[in-house]
Amino acid sequence: MFRFKTNLKPSDVTPKAAWLNRRALMTGAGGAALAGMLGGTARAGLDAVPSRYSTAAEPNSLDDITQYNNFYEFGTRKTDPARHAHALTTDPWQVTIDGLVDKPGAYDFDDLTSGVTLEQRIYRFRCVEAWSMVIPWVGFQLSDLLDRVGVLPEARYVAFETLVRPEEMPGQRTRILDWPYTEGLRLDEARHPLTILATGIYDEPMPKQNGAPIRLVVPWKYGFKSIKSIVRISLTRDEPPCTWNLLAPNEYGFYSNVNPNVDHPRWSQASERRIGGGLLSSRQPTLMFNGYADEVAHLYAGMDLTKHF
Ligand code: MTE
Repeated sequence: MFRFKTNLKPSDVTPKAAWLNRRALMTGAGGAALAGMLGGTARAGLDAVPSRYSTAAEPNSLDDITQYNNFYEFGTRKTDPARHAHALTTDPWQVTIDGLVDKPGAYDFDDLTSGVTLEQRIYRFRCVEAWSMVIPWVGFQLSDLLDRVGVLPEARYVAFETLVRPEEMPGQRTRILDWPYTEGLRLDEARHPLTILATGIYDEPMPKQNGAPIRLVVPWKYGFKSIKSIVRISLTRDEPPCTWNLLAPNEYGFYSNVNPNVDHPRWSQASERRIGGGLLSSRQPTLMFNGYADEVAHLYAGMDLTKHF
């Protein structure tokens, strides 16, 4: 597996011009000229897919990924996060880690990320609303952090909380959701190597509308499990409260694994609309566990997935 250290930016792996223009390179008439300009370096960068967990699918552009978002702290329209998130202060940033751990505490963002191995993980991302993207995250495995803080044997779940700061988050001045936004995973899901804490996209630090400075990414679950702008991680004995599950338990289960065979009560989950410019936008079948069944199906062996949806 290709890995790079924190002091080596993802840009050293994939030159910015290459990913900004990747779509043009692949499809555009100008592609040949551009490919010539970028030469061998760009190709080498694009070939250096850095993790065996990455999909070979073409990533969405940074524009797609940063202009079409769900982040209700900034409003409910897809364009609200891009419009309002710039006001969010993300430095300094602390994440409190507490509950059933050896080393509870309030950790500075820099302490959380220093010394960790950052990887590029190109993952499929499937929203419960039946749209999808392919996103080149940069991050590290949540299991690395759990190992560092030491999980006590009684712990069975991991709970997450997003920042509450209504002065900077206009959506939090409304009651559209119960704040803070919360999420949770079973401990074995949290420890799975596909589960990451992401701190960047392409070679940018995490854009604010995508959950700066640190967010969860669980690629086999519907996107709402991937909680943004995390300020608390708690190890618990009991299943933690999760925002959408509390709001509508018949629509959003605790597990919320991507499953084309279990429809949302109000729409089908059998297919999805891949976000992407113009002609590249297409409808495609949704895959069990979002295409990660080989890696994660064993976590749910023997469970009735229509009941534990
Ligand atoms: N996290 C917080 N704190 N608030 C949110 O509203 N929306 C979720 C998830 N995490 C959300 C959140 C939903 S519904 C989706 S689909 C993804 O973030 C969207 O992530 P993206 O905007 O980076 O694509």
